[in-house]
Amino acid sequence: MAEPTDPSGIPQRKLEHVEITARQPALGAVTPGWADIYLLHACLPEVDYDAVDLRTELLGHTLAAPVLIAGMTGGHPQAAPINATLARAVERFGLGMGVGSQRAGLRQPALRGTYAVAREQAPTALLLANIGLPQLLDQGSEPALTLAQVQEAIDTLRADALVVHLNYLQEVVQPEGDTRAAGALAALTRLCAALSAPVVAKETGAGMTRAQAERLKQAGVAALDVGGAGGTSFAVVEAQRAAARGHTLGTRLGQTFAAWGIPTAVSVVETVPVGLPVIATGGIRTGLDAAKALALGATAVGIARPALIAALEGDAALSAWLEGFLAELRAALFLAGAPTVTALRQQRCIVLGATAAWLEQLGHRLPLR
Ligand SMILES: Cc1cc2nc3c(=O)[nH]c(=O)nc-3n(C[C@H](O)[C@H](O)[C@H](O)COP(=O)(O)O)c2cc1C
Repeated sequence: MAEPTDPSGIPQRKLEHVEITARQPALGAVTPGWADIYLLHACLPEVDYDAVDLRTELLGHTLAAPVLIAGMTGGHPQAAPINATLARAVERFGLGMGVGSQRAGLRQPALRGTYAVAREQAPTALLLANIGLPQLLDQGSEPALTLAQVQEAIDTLRADALVVHLNYLQEVVQPEGDTRAAGALAALTRLCAALSAPVVAKETGAGMTRAQAERLKQAGVAALDVGGAGGTSFAVVEAQRAAARGHTLGTRLGQTFAAWGIPTAVSVVETVPVGLPVIATGGIRTGLDAAKALALGATAVGIARPALIAALEGDAALSAWLEGFLAELRAALFLAGAPTVTALRQQRCIVLGATAAWLEQLGHRLPLR
């Protein structure tokens, strides 16, 4: 397999993202909001724990539980075993998974196997291809991806859907960042019209407002991943990469904008009324966090760093982690007296603290229902 010698530096960057986030949590100053959300306890659950039904429809698939492993990696040789481990787990547990940005594989065909391995190991699971919205525009250093290239990213994975990630916070901090953004919505609209696969618009750590979500819906996306603030912060990750290179501006921008973003819980409440399936990614660490996101109206949750850490330890560690996570999620539905995910999504919950203040200032009336 190819070594990461691409002059663009993309494979090296992708490797550093894994190394930095695996070492320690790259948390910014914003918290995701789960600590402010309380589900109401049902002292009479009136459903058997084992009968709690976690099955969920998403993008034409029936998931065994509303859980995706969020797109992380691919495009460097070390990514192949990670994607293989993640894929085996989602196949076994009936979950879904994304891969990381496929730009490196489109530039260097020798790296395509680092993504394709996911489909080899997960022949029936919901798999999501991944490209960045900035790559739909000419960035000066690099031309815009063509429709044929995007289709190739989907075909490499025999993907069920394409994630287009929105990562301008990361791009603005990265010394080599792609910051041309004018016209991106029109490019996304053209892409959605041209592709037969559904498109998911996914933020990557700065969250989404309702107004922005409405624009994405009009562009033709089939689902939203709010990618809220409070989990892995790419401002923090890029600040560390910049510091290691003695790049003072990148370090400074990353440190300052570690406090940027709309918390994941707030982003979920904002975007659910738009009427598309909402995936809550960003700081989901337990099955109880996931249950809170679902109670706020999300259709599914996405988990990145915890799955990466476990996958680096191997198949058994990832299976054990997912089993624990799903047990927590099942316990939350049981204790809330919700026999199904749909029932949980219709339940009342209490919102306190900073999350309540955010929501009130955004015009939401509490209690939410
Ligand atoms: C090592 C690493 C690489 C990532 N690369 C991508 C990527 O290429 N494309 C993308 O859409 N998101 C990427 N993400 C973002 C995750 O999908 C997710 O949105 C983010 O990490 C927040 O989830 P977490 O708090 O559970 O880590 C990456 C995350 C990690 C940890």
